[in-house]
Amino acid sequence: MNKSIAIQFNRVSKSYPIYSHLGAGLKGFIFNLPKALKGLARERFTALENISFDINRGETVAFMGRNGAGKSTTLGLIAQVLKSTSGTVAVHGRVSPLLELGGGFHSDLTGRENILLNGVLLGLSRKTIKEKEDSIIGFSELGNFIDQPIRMYSSGMLSRLGFSVVAHLDPEILLVDEVLAVGDIAFQEKCKNKITEFKKSGVTIVLVSHSIDDVRKLCDRVIWIENHKIQMDGPTTEVLPVYEKYFV
Ligand SMILES: Nc1ncnc2c1ncn2[C@@H]1O[C@H](COP(=O)(O)OP(=O)(O)O)[C@@H](O)[C@H]1O
Ligand SMILES: [Mg+2]
Repeated sequence: MNKSIAIQFNRVSKSYPIYSHLGAGLKGFIFNLPKALKGLARERFTALENISFDINRGETVAFMGRNGAGKSTTLGLIAQVLKSTSGTVAVHGRVSPLLELGGGFHSDLTGRENILLNGVLLGLSRKTIKEKEDSIIGFSELGNFIDQPIRMYSSGMLSRLGFSVVAHLDPEILLVDEVLAVGDIAFQEKCKNKITEFKKSGVTIVLVSHSIDDVRKLCDRVIWIENHKIQMDGPTTEVLPVYEKYFV
């Protein structure tokens, strides 16, 4: 792999097993249980089909496309929390993922405890996390809520906590999946400024967003996924007009 490449997908497909279909009905299902179970396990749903792309170090790329297209699956494969069904995924650099809302958080722990948990999961030492704790909490602006269990948090508060941790990780490859949209406007601006700062310092950034304005401001390139395949991949200025025409 070329040294300047951070992420490389080569003919990647990802399918998930489907277990919901009962075929011959519940009775038939129960009377032929072993066979029925085998049949069910064989059924798969294709979330990504034969996707190839290279992302260079320092590139800022947005994945766009409708709900269910396969964007989060792509980020999960980059973060290596998912495994491809076929094809190869290569990633060079430390990945700091901010995936689905509250992913990596535990609802019975407080915000403060979750910072520690999340930091450890993302590869920091306890000492480093403790050193950064005040700064993380300050950035989150969660105030006294930081010592409440996060099941009391709104989705916006969860995204504050998640982004604040990731923003202090010193990432090489930053993944941000739709969390910008949940915070309030002031926090969204703060996140975007932080992302711009990372961009200037050469961090590779991959984000999922439905906001055309955000993508225009933050990203050099758009990979548009439609029906689990790449519909278009190119400079933001070329893809966005076509994308807008298609959807708006
Ligand atoms: N764990 C899973 N099991 C089964 N199907 C899944 C799973 N995760 C995602 N899918 C399906 O894969 C498709 C792509 O999902 P996803 O990557 O989350 O889409 P997006 O982020 O673009 O909205 C969707 O149709 C979704 O229902
Ligand atoms: Mg998604």
